[in-house]
Amino acid sequence: MNIHPTSYSISQNEREKMNRHKSIVIWFTGLSGSGKSSIAQELERLLFQKNIHCFPLDGDNIRTGLNSDLDFSDQDRSENIRRISEVAKLLIQSGQVVLASFISPFEKDRLEAKRIIREHSFFEVFVDTPLELCKKRDPKGLYHKVEKGEIKNFTGINSPYETPKNPDLILSTENKTIQECTTELLEKILPLIELE
Ligand code: ADX
Repeated sequence: MNIHPTSYSISQNEREKMNRHKSIVIWFTGLSGSGKSSIAQELERLLFQKNIHCFPLDGDNIRTGLNSDLDFSDQDRSENIRRISEVAKLLIQSGQVVLASFISPFEKDRLEAKRIIREHSFFEVFVDTPLELCKKRDPKGLYHKVEKGEIKNFTGINSPYETPKNPDLILSTENKTIQECTTELLEKILPLIELE
């Protein structure tokens, strides 16, 4: 009520023309330790080298700042994804290619993210790594802590992960290197951000 948003004086279109590429959100979803952030970081470097304006949004980083008031209950995870989607929307309006890496375990929250960001600008990547492999990798020692009973509501163990129903790309990391996954992804992304 009583809120009257102003329109931007410089449109997304104009910014995209200046940047010489379209903006888009690449949304990585998958278990903790699946490789989302590693692939996003590698992709960011490749895009940057091609003069593509890009910016990462990452679970652990956002949760220490903007979303530091949120925990890992189902409700707070939804709020986490909602706020991030709004930030990602601002970033695409500013002409960026956004690399968003969040477990985002619930299909309804990912659909809501897609709605907020708008379907044509949302590219969903399911980083498909079996739980057993994530546990074995355990890059942050979190699965070990879960086993000792030190973390509750941990995704894949005692909190659900809903496999994406209709992702734009599935990256199976089990038998591939980060570089191989990134190259595969880059080939899919480049045509999407080309200006007509
Ligand atoms: S999400 O479920 O709300 O999308 P998000 O991607 O922001 O999660 O944060 C996940 C990161 O928080 C994990 O990579 C891990 O480092 C850390 N973490 C801490 N506690 C948990 C937990 N209970 N479940 C999952 N990840 C957790």
